[in-house]
Amino acid sequence: MIKSFIIIIIYFFIINGVNTFVPSPRAEQAALLVNNKIYVYGGVNERTKLSDFFYLDISSSFIINNITSMPWVNITPPTGLSVRTSSAACIYGKNKNQIVYIGGDAIVGDNFTTVYDITTQQWSIPKTSASFTSNRKLIQCVVSEDDIYVYGGLENVYDMIKLDTLNLSWTEFSPGPVAPIGVQSYRAILLNNASILYIGGQPGGDVPTLPYSSFDKLSMYNINNSTWSLITTSGNIPPSRYDHGAVYIPQYNQILIFYGIPISLNMSIVALDTVKFEWSIPTIKNVGGPTDGLRRFISILIETYVFIAFGSFDINGQNCTNNFFLLDGL
Ligand SMILES: *[C@@H]1O[C@H](CO)[C@@H](O)[C@H](O)[C@H]1NC(C)=O
Ligand SMILES: *[C@@H]1O[C@H](CO)[C@@H](O)[C@H](O)[C@H]1NC(C)=O
Ligand SMILES: *[C@@H]1O[C@H](CO)[C@@H](O)[C@H](O)[C@H]1NC(C)=O
Ligand SMILES: *[C@@H]1O[C@H](CO)[C@@H](O)[C@H](O)[C@H]1NC(C)=O
Ligand SMILES: *[C@@H]1O[C@H](CO)[C@@H](O)[C@H](O)[C@H]1NC(C)=O
Ligand SMILES: *[C@@H]1O[C@H](CO)[C@@H](O)[C@H](O)[C@H]1NC(C)=O
Ligand SMILES: *[C@@H]1O[C@H](CO)[C@@H](O)[C@H](O)[C@H]1NC(C)=O
Ligand SMILES: *[C@@H]1O[C@H](CO)[C@@H](O)[C@H](O)[C@H]1NC(C)=O
Repeated sequence: MIKSFIIIIIYFFIINGVNTFVPSPRAEQAALLVNNKIYVYGGVNERTKLSDFFYLDISSSFIINNITSMPWVNITPPTGLSVRTSSAACIYGKNKNQIVYIGGDAIVGDNFTTVYDITTQQWSIPKTSASFTSNRKLIQCVVSEDDIYVYGGLENVYDMIKLDTLNLSWTEFSPGPVAPIGVQSYRAILLNNASILYIGGQPGGDVPTLPYSSFDKLSMYNINNSTWSLITTSGNIPPSRYDHGAVYIPQYNQILIFYGIPISLNMSIVALDTVKFEWSIPTIKNVGGPTDGLRRFISILIETYVFIAFGSFDINGQNCTNNFFLLDGL
């Protein structure tokens, strides 16, 4: 059980001048951790969609008191990449070396499924079985064995799509009976390879409309029988939100939820016990970290740290940051 946390704040301007590449501020980037590297693709900065691709190498034992050992490395190919924002990224393949970028703002047709091979460092737009024409953005993908699940995205209410990574075939279906209200800007977490828990989110459309997906009953997708069910939670139930961050710490049966919209949340960091489905407020021993209202940022578990980076402080997606901080928790 996690008892308390320490926040460590790191500002990019400190690194600037030491390393040659400092990523610009952004939100809505796609990011994931693979083999000691956090890969980041695109995002949006003050309404400009981005197409850069880079990673943070955390292999050098992740020395937080020597941030010069944590360089970002720009690996955007010289030929350039297409802009990509609000998409999802997952890792698959026998050797866990393929990153698939799925959907995103106005990314339809063949480009919907774009793959980066970490080993060969090659990009490809593989021929998949589907050509999606509706905008699926602000989504998350979840890998279970050889399948990748993606719920909703903008107006795709009730809609689940599944990528069989063995033959790159998509299927589309509407599991019954109670699909989540939050079809975008939710967080999705795989529990026990058997079910996917959906936390928060907002109804489809570009305008944030109430009601947000509540936190007292959470939607669970049961992979086995392809049905939705509702999990009733207990404890200190937090207010609803979307555009938040979430990190699952399996060894502690705990999900941590960070920030999000609405901007003034009285419980900006909360914890969910994934066995009892009980909410609590974790103790943070120091002050610091982003001010409330950070949205569309990265949150990734690295060993004993939660890494939070980028994001926007503005309801319209402006006032983006390239700062990051670490929550030392375990
Ligand atoms: C900090 O890390 C840099 C880059 O890895 C290294 O060159 C430097 O010697 C380190 N400094 C200390 C005090 O460990
Ligand atoms: C797909 O991506 C390619 C490469 O970035 C780009 O040239 C092309 O215009 C995109 N196609 C569509 C339909 O957006
Ligand atoms: C892809 O493989 C799955 C089994 O893994 C099979 O059910 C499906 O029909 C295959 N799809 C295509 C298009 O071959
Ligand atoms: C989930 O699946 C992975 C890979 O298929 C396996 O290594 C792991 O043991 C499974 N976990 C559970 C709880 O079934
Ligand atoms: C999946 O369904 C099968 C029967 O269809 C059942 O035996 C098994 O226990 C189920 N597993 C889970 C995790 O629900
Ligand atoms: C589907 O599986 C879940 C988890 O195993 C179970 O709770 C639920 O009752 C099942 N639903 C149906 C319709 O079988
Ligand atoms: C936070 O707000 C919720 C409702 O919005 C309220 O029920 C709860 O008591 C508040 N918690 C704290 C710690 O102020
Ligand atoms: C941007 O966000 C930061 C952090 O919340 C805040 O301090 C600052 O006032 C904001 N700037 C603008 C121009 O809104």
